Amino acid sequence: MDRIRLGLAGFGTVGSGLAKILDMNAGRIEKRLGKKIEIEKVLVRDLNKKRAFDPGPGVAFTADPADLINDPDIDIVVELMGGLDTARDLMLKAFAAGKHVVTANKHLLAEHGLELFDAAAKSGVGLMFEASCAGGIPIVQTLKESLAGDEVVKMLGIMNGTANYILSEMTTKGMDFETALADAQDLGYAEADPTFDIEGFDTAHKLCVLIRMAYGADYPLSEIPVQGITSVTPMDIDFAREFGYRIKLLAHVMDVNGRLEAGVHPALVPYTYLLARVGGNYNAVRLEGNAVGPIMLHGQGAGDLPTGSAVLADIMNLARKMGQECSLFDNTGFNNAPIRRADIL
Ligand code: NDP
Ligand code: HSE
Repeated sequence: MDRIRLGLAGFGTVGSGLAKILDMNAGRIEKRLGKKIEIEKVLVRDLNKKRAFDPGPGVAFTADPADLINDPDIDIVVELMGGLDTARDLMLKAFAAGKHVVTANKHLLAEHGLELFDAAAKSGVGLMFEASCAGGIPIVQTLKESLAGDEVVKMLGIMNGTANYILSEMTTKGMDFETALADAQDLGYAEADPTFDIEGFDTAHKLCVLIRMAYGADYPLSEIPVQGITSVTPMDIDFAREFGYRIKLLAHVMDVNGRLEAGVHPALVPYTYLLARVGGNYNAVRLEGNAVGPIMLHGQGAGDLPTGSAVLADIMNLARKMGQECSLFDNTGFNNAPIRRADIL
């Protein structure tokens, strides 16, 4: 197989970001992989919308998901639409058709991840999701590969670029909440419904996915206590700064004698901590393993190229494994071990 052909579902911020990187780094990708990666078809809602980036003359646009599923030339379906029902249906049909899937859809994985991983495993195909958590930061890979032999004791971090952008702009420029949110939307950081960002739900979706990776445990989304940043006032931010703190939207999980305690909430972080200095659309996650000790991952958590980069890493990872034994695809979302229900503190 000298070419890997993609069916790209979604051509918004992330979909067009991926297309830009495939264009910008085509030579490097082919050299590293020994194969070309090409977009075969693009699924969108509105065929008449003017696109900011042209993926090239050979790429067909369609509004019918079946055009991706029934195309025997498509090896990997890349789901970058967001939302639940259409995306879930597309992924289940892709697995049934023997196609691998790469997704950035943390909401779908948090709600239906176990079903989807199971369906992918039964079809002997891969389901990859690096871009679903913390944008360009390789956190899924870190938990899956680098910390495979560690017990994760604690995970704490900033996992939403939009909320962090808003809090940073309010703190450093005195910008009001609405203007900062509108900026984050213009920059492509926010979810289609930004309530998910500002009310903390998007952070909870990511935390739910990462708990599976870190602990092999399913912590139901509905049991994660969530508080967003809509009640944080400019006065809170000023007082925090006066006393040497920054307000950050944090996700945390820790293992307390075999039971997990998790949550999402705005917190006062001393300015002497690295997490307090994470600005703009950046995310940062502090992981603590029982062997490695603490490590910190930091990078852009939202936006077209950073997120496209994580999607492309998954595509290249799959492309390297294609043609090998299907058991090489990790389809439990947790290092091939079955996921148990979390024992919650
Ligand atoms: P956008 O809203 O920018 O783009 C969504 C794309 O999907 C559009 O091209 C849209 O078509 C298409 N689409 C949506 N619904 C349908 C449907 N029912 N049928 C066909 N096409 C559809 O979203 P993003 O690119 O920002 O996000 C995509 C996914 O990536 C989401 O799951 C998001 O949570 C995730 N993500 C986003 C990040 C970011 O920085 N933006 C970072 C990490 C993850 P049309 O263009 O015609 O409207
Ligand atoms: N809306 C999300 C954020 C995109 O702002 O972090 C990245 O998952």
